Amino acid sequence: MDKLLQSDKGPIGVFDSGYGGLTILSEFLKDFPEYDFIYLGDNARTPYGTRSFEMVYQYTRQAVMHLFERGCQLVILACNTASAKALRTIQQKDLLSFDSSRRVLGVVRPSVEKIGDVSRNGHVGVVGTSGTVVSLSYPLEVQKLFPGTIVHQQACPMWVPLVENDERNTPGADYFVERDLKRLFEQDVEIDTLILGCTHYPLLLPVIERFIPRHVKVVSQGPIVSGSLRNYLHRHPEMDGRCTRNGTCEFLTTEDPSKFNEASAVFLDQPVASRRIEL
Ligand code: DGL
Repeated sequence: MDKLLQSDKGPIGVFDSGYGGLTILSEFLKDFPEYDFIYLGDNARTPYGTRSFEMVYQYTRQAVMHLFERGCQLVILACNTASAKALRTIQQKDLLSFDSSRRVLGVVRPSVEKIGDVSRNGHVGVVGTSGTVVSLSYPLEVQKLFPGTIVHQQACPMWVPLVENDERNTPGADYFVERDLKRLFEQDVEIDTLILGCTHYPLLLPVIERFIPRHVKVVSQGPIVSGSLRNYLHRHPEMDGRCTRNGTCEFLTTEDPSKFNEASAVFLDQPVASRRIEL
């Protein structure tokens, strides 16, 4: 690993267990073309969604430290599972021991803030990985911000492997998406807002839309998280000043770079030349 960068400026780090965070990064690249970014996908150890709290925390912590050592002052966990299982401990414990001026932000809170604008009847459905669902991060955060809202969740453990293995446009994807959405809506037919609580799921949106009632609004995280970053940088000019601006984007993966380059091209409007790193 590179030596610790002493600079107090650097790119914005974007982390996900695999490709899902690219749905967030692509919005950042549109909205912040002048900023520098480093994307890190832990493709070798994906999926995180079925792993224990301890493993998700350890893996996420390693990734965040790696991005810090590359100079990032601000890291976005573009992964709900990592946000649900690791963010708080990293914020409360690891930042203090590493460098309390750096920041790590997640994707759960910005998504929950959005439902106030979207749901008309206060019945919300959340789809996510088993890890995100078991953590209860969404229901707890919703109750904090919008008490009285009725939240039902459905774990969709097959959806991430479908995306990671480029099986999105297959009968297999149709089968699992239809099955899991049916299970969600059987819990509450009044759901009018569906939160895609996993950054991989927007990649399945055309399939998802075929299996939900027409009136249901889908909350997809990319634009929301990007808007929230804009707001954060506006409210924290000292951090904004520590984000470098040369319009660059670097890609790191823990798996085979050529596989990453090929798969990423599907999600981003730019050629990707990634490098392999070890965490
Ligand atoms: N993209 C991640 C999320 O938002 C999950 C993927 C995984 O299971 O590794 O939850």
